Amino acid sequence: MSMTSSPQTLAVQHLAINGGSPVRASFLPYGRQSIEEADVAAVVEVLRSDWLTTGPKVGEFEEAFAARVGAAYAVSFSSGTAALHGAAFAAGLKAGDEAITTPLTFAATANCVLYQDATPVFADVSADTLNLDPDQIEKRLSSKTRAILPVDYSGHPADLAVLMDVAQRHGLIVIEDACHALGAEFRRKRVGSIADMTVFSFHPVKHITTGEGGMVTTNNAQLAETLRRFRNHGISSDARQRQSAGQWHYEMVLLGFNYRLPDVVCALGIEQLKRLDANLARRREIAAQYSAAFCEMPSVIAPTVRPEANPAWHLYPIRLALEKLTADRAQIFRALRAENIGVNVHYIPVHLHPYYRDRFGFQGGEFPVAEDAYSRLISLPMFHSMTGQDVKDVIAAVTKVVSSYAR
Ligand SMILES: Cc1ncc(COP(=O)(O)O)c(C=O)c1O
Repeated sequence: MSMTSSPQTLAVQHLAINGGSPVRASFLPYGRQSIEEADVAAVVEVLRSDWLTTGPKVGEFEEAFAARVGAAYAVSFSSGTAALHGAAFAAGLKAGDEAITTPLTFAATANCVLYQDATPVFADVSADTLNLDPDQIEKRLSSKTRAILPVDYSGHPADLAVLMDVAQRHGLIVIEDACHALGAEFRRKRVGSIADMTVFSFHPVKHITTGEGGMVTTNNAQLAETLRRFRNHGISSDARQRQSAGQWHYEMVLLGFNYRLPDVVCALGIEQLKRLDANLARRREIAAQYSAAFCEMPSVIAPTVRPEANPAWHLYPIRLALEKLTADRAQIFRALRAENIGVNVHYIPVHLHPYYRDRFGFQGGEFPVAEDAYSRLISLPMFHSMTGQDVKDVIAAVTKVVSSYAR
């Protein structure tokens, strides 16, 4: 090694991406499920029962879920995406309508509007939370606007008080995409009890899992009934009700889908839900440790938590202060992966995907706050079964990598 090497050059040479030894020997994913023996036993019990689907576990899961989030009704779906589709249908979205949503989300949020032949209209996000900016929503309102679809990005609730107020003033329906936010609270009210409809996902990286699965919660009986029909071919009563009533007659009253969540995995959901509080507590502990470490690092911007929010921490997305670094996000991402830290990026803004560019003519530059955030974002590992050592490894790797590339 040259006698003239600067400490910076030496640090860069020690990075795993340049042949140095990684911070940890095994790969740490950014998210993962936890399955316990009680989960396995509950699933096996259903496998041995008469009802693999449309049975008693569906209602049991829905009731427990509604009670947990403080909503009057919960309707299960086969995925979060199917649940979003159901909510878009129940909201009455149709050709010619517009729904305002954020570009900084998973494509499914906007896609559900397209499923209904309506048009998603993107509005930029606030720089602190990266949630829909209410001022930008006001600018996008038109005579065609029928709904607002906020996303609780990373698990931090959207600005629900202002959004509900905008919606009320303009006669709009609010479908909250809370796929990141099971267990979050806004002004001490539970996410799931606030918007007209709230959508959740049970994908394995989420707070609880059913493999694939989703839920819509609402306080409106009419919406709940429409959601139930929509996920069951548009049929007005399910097979079990018919069997117990001893009759064959049923009526298809609207054009629905088979979006049902089977009993086999509802049983898993019931067990997982019992551990939600413990999962949330662990995620909040990890977030606090991360934030305490990163507030010391000038090149890392930790997520903001507004005073009215108690986030659920599905993700822990840092933003890089690129002005203070000699490497871009892609290089830092690769360097962290080489250290065996399973970082990820949430999200490529939806309007920049080829499908949206081709269909709507987006070219980039339309939503500067979301696009700037995208150039800096890195999601660090965040899941409830992370050990103390896992958390230390992530902090050590981020410290190692960003200090090596410090300006
Ligand atoms: C914000 C958001 N909306 C919707 C979805 C779709 O949920 P699912 O994967 O259960 O279909 C996801 C999934 O990750 C998501 O993160």
